[in-house]
Amino acid sequence: MIGYGRIHQKPQSRNGAITKMISQRLLKYYDSLEVNYHIVENPDYEHLVVPNNNSKQPIHRWFHLKEGFSYDLLENVIRDTDLFKCDSLSLLDPFVGGGTSVVSGLMMRTTSKDWPIYACGIERNPFLKFVADTKVRALMMGPKKFKKTVQQIVKAYKAYNSEKRILEKIPDLSTFHNRGYFNEETIHKLLALKTAIKTCNGPELEKSLAYLCLAGSIEAVSSLRKDGRALRYVPDKNYTDVLDEFMKRADVIEADILELSYHESIGQIFLGDGRIPELSIPSGRQFNLVLFSPPYPNNIDYTEVYKLESWFLGFISDHDSFRKQRLSTLRSHPSLVFPNIILASQNGHYEQFMELLTPVLEEIPRNANMTSRNRLVMGYFDDLLQTLINLKLLITKGGYVVYVVGNSLHGSHEDHFLIAADVIIAKLAEIAGYKVKSYINARMLNRRKLAGNHMRESVVFLQKE
Ligand SMILES: C[S@@+](CC[C@H](N)C(=O)[O-])C[C@H]1O[C@@H](n2cnc3c(N)ncnc32)[C@H](O)[C@@H]1O
Repeated sequence: MIGYGRIHQKPQSRNGAITKMISQRLLKYYDSLEVNYHIVENPDYEHLVVPNNNSKQPIHRWFHLKEGFSYDLLENVIRDTDLFKCDSLSLLDPFVGGGTSVVSGLMMRTTSKDWPIYACGIERNPFLKFVADTKVRALMMGPKKFKKTVQQIVKAYKAYNSEKRILEKIPDLSTFHNRGYFNEETIHKLLALKTAIKTCNGPELEKSLAYLCLAGSIEAVSSLRKDGRALRYVPDKNYTDVLDEFMKRADVIEADILELSYHESIGQIFLGDGRIPELSIPSGRQFNLVLFSPPYPNNIDYTEVYKLESWFLGFISDHDSFRKQRLSTLRSHPSLVFPNIILASQNGHYEQFMELLTPVLEEIPRNANMTSRNRLVMGYFDDLLQTLINLKLLITKGGYVVYVVGNSLHGSHEDHFLIAADVIIAKLAEIAGYKVKSYINARMLNRRKLAGNHMRESVVFLQKE
């Protein structure tokens, strides 16, 4: 094994700005990893790796996931493979988030009885699973009584709100008890609305859609905004009334439902662990396409980002389940100390795994974050290797695994540390026995090219041969 010491770029002052330094040896190592891949810059994909226009698309717009990819990605992926030659599409997304891939699959314009589609997704976060599942069930079942259910809810809400008779209690999460974030009137109205939905005797799917409208309203009526990996306090945010926000969302859903045309495609969303997909999906099911975007190794903790919705809707009810939820996610964030389990030591690939990662581990800056970054690199890539190994058993011969991932720059000033997840995952895929078919540099994340060409978001096509 080559020794990879730590060498930094010579500091250069630019307009008096703080000079950034990054390990050149690490960049060279990443260059060496990708030397055999033909990495293509494809501007078509620039808008496909972000949730571009999802907020204008029927169904997709019912709940916006900032971390999602575009509703249009799936069609492009299918176009860029030979999947159309197959008799049918069987799609799996093991990190399905708000359900973009599965909803896109079910809504594909090409859908016809000639090309049957089965699309399923796995999600670890119970609130996000609820979001994806509600969209998918609505798409398949076509709720008939949504308008009437909303009318009943609004009537009950007005009564609960004026009588000050609320059956629900404020969730234990401290954010809901901070009157700077939610004023007294707002929290009361939110609880009145939740009570009204809970006590409404409308059909279950229609009630789920109403809960989705309520969930989507929470951030809008607070003084908080989702901002990367945390919620940010925005004191001068425009005040939105709870009922107005709820109705705005209900009107959008109603409009989309009226336009839906139903077909015979089947969609399913499972609450489970995408790293061990075989435990969630129906036994015997095989897929010719797996499309996913895992959490990036950028410290975003989805349990934290979606905590308001999760606690308010009752998916998380105490701090113990909050912690357990975090613990059950992919090891992409240092919000807690995950158990130090390295599955690569049991799956026969430990040596190759360590050979790949050692040069990266050696470049972690020696500072207070060193231990947690070490754990992040080991845990994150161990999880991804395991995911790829397990997925392989579920893919048909010639089937594709397509992943979207962004590389992450950690630290600041002289302590920059880059995790080039795209190429490391490609190498892990080869270790797991896939062939890298095509490698698209979809967009650059840093225009100053601080990290050569490595600060990018990529779409990588793997094939099981
Ligand atoms: C980048 S997001 C996916 C967004 C999705 N492509 C979309 O457009 O909505 C990654 C998702 O992985 C989920 N996740 C984290 N750990 C997981 C696990 N072990 N199993 C399944 N999902 C997990 C997160 O909750 C998050 O929703």
